[in-house]
Amino acid sequence: MSIIKVINNELKNVFKNAGYDVENINLLPSNRKDLGDFQINEAFQLAKQYGKNPRAIAEDVVKELEKDDKFTNINIAGPGFINITLTNEFLVEQLNNISGNVVDNIDKPESKKVVIDFGGANVAKALHVGHLRSANLGEALKRLARVMGYTVWGDTHLGDYGRPLGLVELEIKKMYPDLPFFDENYEGDYSEVELPITNDDLERIYPLASTKSKEDEAYLEEAREITAKIQNKEKGYYELWKKIIEISKAEIKKVYDSLNVHYDLWYGESDAIPYVDELTKIYEDKNLLIDSEGAKIVEVAEETDKAPMPPLLYIKSNGSISYETTDLATILQRKHEFDPDEIWYCIDGRQELHVEQVFRAARKAELVRPDVKLEFIGFGTMNGQDGKPFKTRDGGVMTLKSLIELVNEETLKRIKLENLSDEEKQSIAHKVAIACLKYSDLIPYRGTDYIFEIEKFADLEGKTGSYILYSTIRMKSLLNKAEGIKFDKIHNLFSEDEKEIALTILNLPVVLSKTLETKSMNEITDYLYKLTSQYNKFYAENKVLLEENQDKQFSWLALTKLVYEVNCLLIDILGIEVPDKM
Ligand code: ARG
Repeated sequence: MSIIKVINNELKNVFKNAGYDVENINLLPSNRKDLGDFQINEAFQLAKQYGKNPRAIAEDVVKELEKDDKFTNINIAGPGFINITLTNEFLVEQLNNISGNVVDNIDKPESKKVVIDFGGANVAKALHVGHLRSANLGEALKRLARVMGYTVWGDTHLGDYGRPLGLVELEIKKMYPDLPFFDENYEGDYSEVELPITNDDLERIYPLASTKSKEDEAYLEEAREITAKIQNKEKGYYELWKKIIEISKAEIKKVYDSLNVHYDLWYGESDAIPYVDELTKIYEDKNLLIDSEGAKIVEVAEETDKAPMPPLLYIKSNGSISYETTDLATILQRKHEFDPDEIWYCIDGRQELHVEQVFRAARKAELVRPDVKLEFIGFGTMNGQDGKPFKTRDGGVMTLKSLIELVNEETLKRIKLENLSDEEKQSIAHKVAIACLKYSDLIPYRGTDYIFEIEKFADLEGKTGSYILYSTIRMKSLLNKAEGIKFDKIHNLFSEDEKEIALTILNLPVVLSKTLETKSMNEITDYLYKLTSQYNKFYAENKVLLEENQDKQFSWLALTKLVYEVNCLLIDILGIEVPDKM
């Protein structure tokens, strides 16, 4: 349990001893530092309960507080705010306990099994800027959940089902009609067939085919037929589909790898298809499927709805299943394979209606136990200066790969390291670039849109990934330089700056618990910036390596080590890698 929680529990007892039963005490960092480090506001809520003046309650509590020698400077402000300060001795002892086991000083909730659905890339299409936030946030949530003790599976839920694949195959057929995949009489082994198509070709083919299908009804019809053939596993078309997925997946994986985003599961929508029969039976048995103009739908509207809630389209009038249905089947698949307690959907906020329909339909049919939590973790868009989703200079869709290259170039310009090979420089610049891109992406509350400002994001000063990395590497380098000094622990806090750092470190568990609740990384990015800035202020004012007072020097090095550990933990949760130098 975290120290802050231990103290809160102790305070609950203090209140009890003073004659007041309170459910929870919430020690808050004070907003009047001159009065104390923390404030306790519970006297107000108790005043109502006990029909007493809050100040009188505060006075009773203070008498008890004074018996505990880890508290100092105990006072009452205004009508009943209790201010307290933790003694330096107590803080020092706690910091030394945390050092080396930062993750033991966090409040782990009851362990849970969670599937996180994030990324959502589509086969045969390039990842674009719209995929960035899902990847960044999902990866960070996955890491945070693991630190908090959850068992987690990150699933990319590849878009590999439906018409786009039919369109791509049709266009390939037009380009290479003689490929054995299209020859009904082919008896050979498809795995030996060389496909004359690269991932770049695929990314060109899809938009082309999509445009054609909008202009040419016959073309569209042919694509529909091919889609059905793939879905019915007709051998040539099905084998070609597998090859396309393989090519596309390799490229998608490369881009995610370069973002330091990794999946435990590379399932696609198509992997849920084997569960559709079971799913349909559940809906039929419960009489939830309604015929509607040749299609089948599920009513999901509720009486309390303020806005219209259209029914979920289960089977389209042409007989094929919808995007909603693949999501429902995926819930069934996840239940069978992982029996999760929670499923988190880290998806673009613009798909909220889709997700809400799916959740409601899933609940209606009781696809999962009522206590299984299905959570939509929607996010806003990354926009350009014009307030619209960020685009290329000529107004086209910005691929994720080009975006990363853009930021790479920007950071490369700012890396001043000499005596490095080009390769080393590139590798450092890439890590810094990803740090800038991720950190800036995770600063705003997840639900809000933000504007991509490359110069601001890549800046070495200010609230940026570069600043955090640079400062953290400097801590490491200080510790490396101090290698010969056998420092043991923190002996004292010698300045207000050090005390501020100590209090921030004590507050880490609160930040992590809050983040797990909100599923937005802004608390962590803020915290990292605060702690790093506090440390840098301390660093600027003290010459650690030249310090002659051994108590001071040891304490400062031990404090540096602790800040470094906390930073590394949080940087890692954000899915950012720290280069050796920069
Ligand atoms: N591939 C989808 C798209 O591009 C996103 C998938 C999101 N995840 C989900 N379970 N629906 O729109």
